[in-house]
Amino acid sequence: MIVSPSVLSADFGHLQRDVEMLNQSLADWLHLDVMDGVFVPNISFGFPVIKAIAAAAAKPLDVHLMIVSPEKFVSQVRDTGAHIMNVHYEACPHLHRVVSQIKEAGMKAAVTLNPHTPVAALTDIIGELDMVLLMSVNPGFGGQKFIGHTLEKVKQLRCLIEARGCHTLIEVDGGVNRETGLALAKAGADALVAGNAIFHAPNPTEEIAFLKSL
Ligand code: DX5
Ligand code: ZN
Repeated sequence: MIVSPSVLSADFGHLQRDVEMLNQSLADWLHLDVMDGVFVPNISFGFPVIKAIAAAAAKPLDVHLMIVSPEKFVSQVRDTGAHIMNVHYEACPHLHRVVSQIKEAGMKAAVTLNPHTPVAALTDIIGELDMVLLMSVNPGFGGQKFIGHTLEKVKQLRCLIEARGCHTLIEVDGGVNRETGLALAKAGADALVAGNAIFHAPNPTEEIAFLKSL
């Protein structure tokens, strides 16, 4: 299992310390949530903070843009040092163009689906995607309850990927903990994002190791 801890749940007063903990852990990536107060009802952090995290991080950055018009920021995201750029399906009327721009900029292209968006919406673009991120909560906040229907969507997405013979990864974000993580692993997820379950655990590196073992 690929584990991508969500830095949104870190202690922003001790960001370098928390990034160092992730460097020393079994985490594969660092998941960075950018919110604009328009696409989602919350504001998180932007490019200067991502650059600071990139300077301290020893692992690839998985940047999740919960913003309108993400196509305007492809080169700025690339310039932070990001490896994966996640854009929301619901924010991109010209999704194929954005995905091409992300790949031309040298990053992995991932498309994120809100809980209400069916997997079938990606039927005609799945072969172009390095990863699909399924939201298992409504985006905007950490610490929300996992939406159980996501397990069904993981299975549907696995079927679509196999039918097309592509190698797209399936990542899931929101309410992931030991229990939901196990269910997601059984359903066919490749990568788990977890914020609260990791950073609010008594021993975050143990929590990461558990999710890694799934
Ligand atoms: C929510 C973000 C998530 C969030 C997950 O909009 O996309 O990445 O940090 O937090 P938990 O794991 O606490 O649900
Ligand atoms: Zn996220």
